[in-house]
Amino acid sequence: MVTLTIDGQKVTVPANSTVLEAAEAAGIHIPTLCYLKDVSQTGSCRVCVVEIGGRLQASCVFPVSEGMEVKTNTPLVRESRRTTVELLLSNHPQECLTCLRNQNCELQRLAQELNIREMRFEGARSDFPIDASSPSIVRDPNKCILCGDCVRVCSEVQGIGVLDFVNRGSEAEVSPAFGKKLAEVDCVNCGQCASVCPTGALVVRSEIQDVFKAIYDPEKVVVAQIAPAVRVAIGEEFGLKPGEVAMGQMVASLKKMGFNKVYDTSFAADLTVLEETHEFLERVQKGERLPQFT
Ligand code: FES
Repeated sequence: MVTLTIDGQKVTVPANSTVLEAAEAAGIHIPTLCYLKDVSQTGSCRVCVVEIGGRLQASCVFPVSEGMEVKTNTPLVRESRRTTVELLLSNHPQECLTCLRNQNCELQRLAQELNIREMRFEGARSDFPIDASSPSIVRDPNKCILCGDCVRVCSEVQGIGVLDFVNRGSEAEVSPAFGKKLAEVDCVNCGQCASVCPTGALVVRSEIQDVFKAIYDPEKVVVAQIAPAVRVAIGEEFGLKPGEVAMGQMVASLKKMGFNKVYDTSFAADLTVLEETHEFLERVQKGERLPQFT
């Protein structure tokens, strides 16, 4: 364990902690942007800077040491954080009102937190094509701030690794290899990149308009099918405890929205089990090839 001082407060933490972790343990908030828990840290955005010995250091990667003195909110720190975010905003598309991430955007939240009320810098805007090839993810590199969160979660958490940094300087972007589209690579459409993206650069494709169009089409019988994970995951979005089952509420809501039928995916799973059992018995009785794969 080591003891350091953060904003005049003594805090004792394990020796392998970062300054950010020590500040968290002391209940002191440091804003972050590229920091993502449980993956490798790159310290690339510099939003989390703090003052240590008169110098600015990225707290998310800077290790603690005995007797260290950290200041998290000096004029130098605040000015540095503001300038960093202002520079990120300088070439960011000003589309907040129509962006899918509006009010759920880390960059927007930071600009608010750092009280940025005017655009001091006007940077050259990128003009990358939008990749809407995937059935589930839409990628807009123009909104990317190159934090690398999607790159790390795709390779380190999901073990897929279809995204990485390409090119340099103002040409730099996060992309599948060789300028391919997401639909042309081994993306498994898990959505983890979109869930960690702090801006609207990677978002889950919205089908809301198509769904309502179908619901209000008198010629159509519209069926919702609920996958097993959703009945638990959706509750958090509506303020339920993580892991709480929201099946009843979900079925009621879907019916109220106008779906004609609501099915549980496991209904089909049950049918599959029956079919497989029949096939398996048949194979055993006839001495056919085994094993049988589902
Ligand atoms: Fe620490 Fe980005 S959050 S450098």
